[in-house]
Amino acid sequence: MKKEILPSLLAADYGRLADEILRAEASGADAMHIDIMDPTFVPNMSFGPDVVALVRRVAPGLYRNVHLMMNRPDLYLEPFAKAGAQTLQIHIEADCDLHRELRRIRGLGMKPAIVLNPETPVEILAPYLGEVDEALVMTVHPGYGGQKFIADCLPKVSWIRERRPGLDIMIDGGGNAETIPLAAKAGANQFVAGSYLFGKPDMRAAVEDLRARIAAC
Ligand code: DX5
Ligand code: ZN
Repeated sequence: MKKEILPSLLAADYGRLADEILRAEASGADAMHIDIMDPTFVPNMSFGPDVVALVRRVAPGLYRNVHLMMNRPDLYLEPFAKAGAQTLQIHIEADCDLHRELRRIRGLGMKPAIVLNPETPVEILAPYLGEVDEALVMTVHPGYGGQKFIADCLPKVSWIRERRPGLDIMIDGGGNAETIPLAAKAGANQFVAGSYLFGKPDMRAAVEDLRARIAAC
C-alpha cells in the first residue's frame, strides 16, 4: 500500500507561514498534517480553521490532513469542512458520540479517522475500525512538537494492521530517519514528521531519504 510522508505544520516558522507551506509542497511530501489543539484536551493551543483555509489557498493541491486534539470536535466539524479539511482525525478520548461524529465527518465530504493516545489501550478501537478510513497511533503525548518517539506504542500499529490489512495507519510524534522505519516495520504506512522535516534546510532531500528508508519495510 502507498507509503506517505506528512510534514506537520506545527513545526513551521510562523513568521513565514505561506513560504513554509510552499516549502512542504515543493518537498514532494504527500500531504500536510495540520494540528488543531484545544487547551482542555492538551496543554497547549495552536491553530483554527483559518490556517486550514490558508493551506488550501497557498497550496491548493496539497492534501489537508487535519488532526483535532479537541475535547468536543463535534462542535467544529462544519467549520473545518468549510475550511477545506480533507481527512478529519478525532481522538477516541474525546467527549462525544464517536460513531455519530465519524458518520457526520463522512457526510460532510471528508474522510473520517480515529486517533489513539499513548496511554489508551488499542483494543477499544475495535468497534470503530470498520467506520474509519485511517487510524492514527500517537507516538508522543499530544500537545507539543519535538518530543521523543515512544516505541512502546508500535505494537498497537501491528495490532491494527493484523485486523485491517487495507487500512491507512499513521504514526504521529517523534518521527525521524531512525523512528519512521521502525513504524513502517510495525505496519504503519503514513508518517508524520514535524520538527524533523521543518528543521531541514533541504526538506526535499529529507523526504526522499525517508522514502528510501521505508521502501523496503
Ligand atoms: C503533537 C502533534 C504532532 C506534532 C509532531 O501534539 O499532534 O503532529 O506536530 O511533531 P514532531 O514530529 O516534532 O514530534
Ligand atoms: Zn498531529
